[in-house]
Amino acid sequence: MYIHKKELLFPVEVKEPNPAYAAAVLEQFGGANGELKACLQYFAQSFSTPDPAIRDLLMDISTEEISHLEMVGSCITQLMGGPDKEQMMNGLGSDERKMAGEGNLLSDAKGYVNSMIHQNSTVQKSTILDGHGLDFVDSSGTPFTGNFINNVGDLVANLQSDLAAELRAKKVYEELYRHVADPGAREMFQFLIDREAAHAALFEEAIERAKGMENKKAEHTGNHVNFYPNLSSGGQAMTEFKFAKNAEVFEGPIFSKK
Ligand SMILES: [Fe+2]
Repeated sequence: MYIHKKELLFPVEVKEPNPAYAAAVLEQFGGANGELKACLQYFAQSFSTPDPAIRDLLMDISTEEISHLEMVGSCITQLMGGPDKEQMMNGLGSDERKMAGEGNLLSDAKGYVNSMIHQNSTVQKSTILDGHGLDFVDSSGTPFTGNFINNVGDLVANLQSDLAAELRAKKVYEELYRHVADPGAREMFQFLIDREAAHAALFEEAIERAKGMENKKAEHTGNHVNFYPNLSSGGQAMTEFKFAKNAEVFEGPIFSKK
């Protein structure tokens, strides 16, 4: 069961509203490397995880991730001017009021986001200002999808996906830190960079634990594992990787039956 505490895991106090920044931070609300993805991935994986300690770890980190999602949602809301749209309108100049009145303030932010992240971002979801509803979309307006969730019946593969998810989330926060200059938002990014790094360390340890468990099980591999495909000329992989040095060299084009 879940119980909600009416305070944030780490205080989020944005200095001033900035819809372009709000659009950028949306990436971590509904994007492929965001908090919802991490939360749901670890939650889903926990059910089929046989080791009680790893199952517990997945649920604890999943629960921390929804607390991160709450912080990110609060940050975006503050960057949009707070939960009260009328209050935000009072603080705007006449041109901005006109834009906001047309539900267009965020589409104006599109230009800022484009110049900030140097890509053809298309923030079409004016809904985050047009009614102040937060959608699960990324900074380009692309909707969240269950396809972001990796869950397969292989514990090591799952945990490696989780480690990658943490490293990717950390990378996105590092980019947000560079592009979003609000000091309050940056404090939040730094906290989240630290926490994703902590999760990455935990998942690294969990992977080692899971590998030990997998080694005790019967292997499903056949006779064609211990080969290195030497299918290019002049490369270094053959001499630099231990696996390649110890493997039989496969020159192609057809494997023999063993
Ligand atoms: Fe997180």
